[in-house]
Amino acid sequence: MVRLSKIVMQLQRRERDGFSQGKPLWSRAIATPAIEFGPTPLPILTGKIPADLRGSLYRNGAGRLQRSGQRVDHWFDGDGGILAVHFTDAGATGLYRYVQTQGLQAEDAADQYLYGGYGQMAPGPFWKRWGAKPKNAANTSVLALPDKLLALWEAGNPYALDLDTLDTLGVEDFDTLPPGQPYSAHPKQDPKTGDLYNFGVVFGRKNYIQLYRSNASGQIQQQGQIPLPRISLIHDFVLAGPYLVFLVPPINLALLPILLGTQVIVVDRHTLTEVSRFDTEPWYQWHFGNGYQADDGSVVIDYVRYADFNTNQWLKEFVTGHPITQASSQLYRLRLDAIAGNVIANEPLFDPDCEFPMVPSQSVGQHHHSLVFCYKSQTINEEFFDGIAHLDPDSGQCRLLQFPTGHYPIEPIYVPGSQGSGWILTIVFNGHQDQSTVQILPADNLDAGPVCVLALPEILPFSFHGTWQARNSS
Ligand SMILES: [Fe+2]
Repeated sequence: MVRLSKIVMQLQRRERDGFSQGKPLWSRAIATPAIEFGPTPLPILTGKIPADLRGSLYRNGAGRLQRSGQRVDHWFDGDGGILAVHFTDAGATGLYRYVQTQGLQAEDAADQYLYGGYGQMAPGPFWKRWGAKPKNAANTSVLALPDKLLALWEAGNPYALDLDTLDTLGVEDFDTLPPGQPYSAHPKQDPKTGDLYNFGVVFGRKNYIQLYRSNASGQIQQQGQIPLPRISLIHDFVLAGPYLVFLVPPINLALLPILLGTQVIVVDRHTLTEVSRFDTEPWYQWHFGNGYQADDGSVVIDYVRYADFNTNQWLKEFVTGHPITQASSQLYRLRLDAIAGNVIANEPLFDPDCEFPMVPSQSVGQHHHSLVFCYKSQTINEEFFDGIAHLDPDSGQCRLLQFPTGHYPIEPIYVPGSQGSGWILTIVFNGHQDQSTVQILPADNLDAGPVCVLALPEILPFSFHGTWQARNSS
């Protein structure tokens, strides 16, 4: 048995070497599909787990980017794989499981791709593909409810999983959602009321945003509809004080991308009805850091801005391990007059390429003083993120943690600590040693480096989004 696993490891090593030849080191993390592992105590490589870090980190991402020698056409088409790291008084335990979607199970059985997806064409002649339902990859993010974990994918219903074991429980419709109705991957939770806000973009005879307000258990309590001007790609939105704000990007997915304007739609979060709608200059964004209503009544929104939709081409090329398209992104601050319906200011906050902005959960929708995100130390198209930043957007004070060459972090998750400050959790891939680690960083002293590094038993491909669920120590 030991000998067999050694042979498998050698074969995978050879496959990685072949795939990553002539490519940046990070490509080794996506060379082969992620390998599942059951509950495994994670050895501490350096430091100590902080005494106030008790709960679970969950992350979701495209775990499998190939099948039977065929690679997917776009990073967003990989099958969802979930990492859980449970922190208790006994230490940290990690496990990794694929979400057992109907599509994954059918493709496992057939040992080939059967479905189309975000960028993936379904196999077979075009007349058979027409109208075929895409595969719900359940690969984008996670929402930790009190009694289940949801694997989110923005074009369909979520999948529910067991919070401890990551066993897939089935499609989650909240006893309300019609089959396949979108429930997007970036829900926002009001830290004061516990209410969850989310949306789904519905295309058809009418194009509209379906709005959801749920209680803290996830049960949908209220819905609304906001008409859309075009078939666009709306990946994220903002909770900002009394408002929900949508920025409809200047692309029309029914045609070739056409530069229009960005349409701002402001919604009253209590009535789920439109407050104002207006056009401004064109750009593209995937993600928002946060939004809030300032003392003067204006609405402030921090977001990561791309000049155009070339970012989508970069994400397509990512699966080759050698993206070449230029897709720079900067952190911006947008200030709106939500009632009058106009832009007051729209200016850069941080110049280096960055992504995955996040605020502490207690700051969502409110004036935040901490924004954490990934950045690239150099603008090189083929490179991946190699640093994590912690910025106070008001003062401009910024702490940076630049990782050594060949080490690549992913989206930082801010976990509140007991002493007012907190911890930042990230997963780092070391391309020199083919090793993924969980790293715990001090939020207020980021440049000091990790207070604890834990070894994961397998290489984890870069995941998209994660969350933290606090729990009493056990
Ligand atoms: Fe996202």
